Amino acid sequence: MPTIIGTDIHQAADFLRKNETVGIPTETVYGLAANALNEQAVAKIFEVKNRPFFDPLIVHIKDVSQIHLFAADIPKLALKLAENFWPGPLTLVLKKQNIVPDLVTSGGDTVALRMPNNEMTLELLKQLDFPLAAPSANPFTYVSPTSAVHVFDQLQGKIPYILDGGSCKVGIESTIVRVLENSLEILRPGGISEDALRSFLPDVQIFGINENISSPIAAPGQLEHHYSPFCKLYALEDHIKLDVQIDAVIYWSKKSEKLKDSGAQNFYFTENGEFSEGSKNLFALLRKLDKGNFKNVLFEWAPNENLGVAINDRLKRASAKRSSII
Ligand code: TXA
Ligand code: MG
Repeated sequence: MPTIIGTDIHQAADFLRKNETVGIPTETVYGLAANALNEQAVAKIFEVKNRPFFDPLIVHIKDVSQIHLFAADIPKLALKLAENFWPGPLTLVLKKQNIVPDLVTSGGDTVALRMPNNEMTLELLKQLDFPLAAPSANPFTYVSPTSAVHVFDQLQGKIPYILDGGSCKVGIESTIVRVLENSLEILRPGGISEDALRSFLPDVQIFGINENISSPIAAPGQLEHHYSPFCKLYALEDHIKLDVQIDAVIYWSKKSEKLKDSGAQNFYFTENGEFSEGSKNLFALLRKLDKGNFKNVLFEWAPNENLGVAINDRLKRASAKRSSII
């Protein structure tokens, strides 16, 4: 099938009404969307991505009030979070309503909901009378896409349309939280930092990513090996132990202390160390290295605070050895 990249929201909506999958822009990463209430349409997402059925999908909705259509027994805390952070990079895991197909939730009794902060996709959602299930629009375990061309590079021929909303402003996926009556559990670090959640909710107990109270893979898609480029990534501090020829180094910032005489080409996540710039550049840079045929790449961790936590989470998984896949 030919894959069109365009800005025609009506055309994207038509394909979605016909139960096709469409690449959609969000502020985090591009999604591969389909009608969340139609099992046939949702099945196509898994097929195109080569995604295992045990990994549930996030359902994208057009406004806060739609939470009630798809979730049940909603804690007040969830509504408070949605009202403050939506539209934006925060996904809420709540008890699901029956209307949400089992395929979307991998048979589980919770659903992940989010209202994305992208004008085109919000307009698209307004034109549709159903919500959109959408994982990141990359083949399973590869680097997430942050532009329409990234989606095209890997999914061309498999999907009819990619709605082009430019480069993603945040650049890493949403923060996923399980919301309980008066506590929160962070299942995946992302575009809203733990600090931001804590300062918004000073009286609420927040379990960070290393203090999970539910299963260790509570967000089942969070494999040890994930977000992985074809080049091999190694942490900068390990370079002395390596016996491979390093052909590129990605420094956190242009101001980082450089390796002497590495002979490798230098890249930077940021000019000055700004977290938002680092998250925006992260995936595009990994894809660029693959395009440039780099094989062995050193990277410098972000400072482990603020959005650096989510950036480092992606770097850790992207550099994990493939043999560690579960
Ligand atoms: O920013 C984002 O969240 C992007 C954009 C497109 O919205 N989406 C995204 O989707 O990152 P995906 O499928 O690549 O990652 C979704 C994660 C997976 O790890 C999945 O296991 C988890 O969300 N998830 C989905 N439903 C869940 C649920 N009911 N309970 C726990 N985890 C869930
Ligand atoms: Mg993903």
